[in-house]
Amino acid sequence: MASPSRPSTEWKAAAAARDAIGQADAPGDEIAPTIASVKEARMRTQVGIVGAGPAGLMLSHLLHRQGISSVVIESRSREYVEHRLRAGVLEQGSVDLLRETGLGARLDREGMRHEGIELRFDGESHRVPMTELTGRAITVYGQQEVVKDLIAARLDAGGTILFEAPAERLSGLDSAPVIHFRHQGREEELHCDFVVGCDGYHGISRPAVPDGVLTTYERTYPFAWLGVLAAAPPAVDELIYAHHERGFALYSMRSPQISRLYLQVPADEDIADWPDERIWAELRTRLETVPNWTLNEGPILEKGITPLRSLVVEPMQWQRLYLAGDAVHIVPPTGAKGMNLALADVALLGDAFAAWYADGSTELLDGYSRTALRRVWRAQQFSWWMTSMLHRLNADDPYEAKLQSATLRYVSTSRSYATSLAENYVGLPQV
Ligand code: FAD
Ligand code: PHB
Repeated sequence: MASPSRPSTEWKAAAAARDAIGQADAPGDEIAPTIASVKEARMRTQVGIVGAGPAGLMLSHLLHRQGISSVVIESRSREYVEHRLRAGVLEQGSVDLLRETGLGARLDREGMRHEGIELRFDGESHRVPMTELTGRAITVYGQQEVVKDLIAARLDAGGTILFEAPAERLSGLDSAPVIHFRHQGREEELHCDFVVGCDGYHGISRPAVPDGVLTTYERTYPFAWLGVLAAAPPAVDELIYAHHERGFALYSMRSPQISRLYLQVPADEDIADWPDERIWAELRTRLETVPNWTLNEGPILEKGITPLRSLVVEPMQWQRLYLAGDAVHIVPPTGAKGMNLALADVALLGDAFAAWYADGSTELLDGYSRTALRRVWRAQQFSWWMTSMLHRLNADDPYEAKLQSATLRYVSTSRSYATSLAENYVGLPQV
């Protein structure tokens, strides 16, 4: 990047002068602007964040803990983001981050710690004992619960999240960034030192980078996941990843009363073609493949289809714009990595901004993309590997199906291969 200028004495003096008229905040201050001040004055903060998903909210939380101000601009309502059904698996490192930053209370009460996963294929079931193999575990805790905890923490601390405020464009990224957004029927501007785009794949941040600067690496898969949330007590204590000749199925959960289940379906499948009875029948076929095991059924509360894709955009930074989470990388959900990568990105950014605001050091900011991409590509490879091993790939290629069975058998019987799966699944501390 063009390194940001040091927070010189003049910069601090200018910030203090802006503070005095209630329009800005200086390093070490919590956020000055409120929704009221958006209307009255030019709104300014140190780090402007687009998107209130796990990445944007966690970054705002981490910055606050370092005394750095931020404003989060979110296109959807609070109600919507708090109830959007997405990920469920937190790596050990994500759990540690939430705990270390004061967000562990509800997670520790309601999260379900899992020490293994089950692989089911060819009529057999094999447990991968993750904790025995790695000393680490995963925690099942819905993404929307993480989002609720983060929103509550930011608002309790006096932080600013503007909901129903779609960002429309970014300007001044080379020196004086501005987020242009709409809020309550008005065109507004947020002036900041840096912008962090945490606005997912369909956001406006990544497209703000001129053509030719970024390189995209991607793969789409010819299948999707049909996911359901059901009011049915989970029939198992651990997740089941099932490989079946009719396609992949996953048994997960959200609580002792709620199951979360997924089925591999063709990429162009229409949810209207999947009445509840058809979903349960297909889940039974793909999951009830071992003796003495039956699915618990119950009313389906929600269902939807999500396409699978792998995508990385490099570098993850341009001028004073930093990109994090799904805005720059997407993994198929088979490895349960998306939310964890989003949190890992912003943990790096939190440290990098802290260093810059403390003494003007640019080393961590300059190294952000390079460092983050190491974890991103590790997760890409693992997610691709899990996806290829577990899904029905090409019905016309029996050779490929035999290779999948051989891989599943190997990972179920070799301690070293199982350890490789386990250490990736629970999350590698260093990459
Ligand atoms: P998001 O959560 O997508 O947040 C982006 C935010 O930006 C949104 O709130 C959006 O409304 C907002 N936004 C977009 N455009 C604008 C704009 N112009 N202005 C303002 N705001 C804007 N990951 C895991 O780790 N484990 C799992 O088990 C797992 N399972 C999954 C299962 C499914 C079915 C799916 C779909 C995903 C799963 N994932 C999983 C992936 C995970 O949900 C995502 O990787 C995660 O949401 C990324 O977080 P984020 O903050 O980067 O983006
Ligand atoms: C989930 O519980 O939503 C879930 C679990 C594991 C995955 C993907 C999704 O790999």
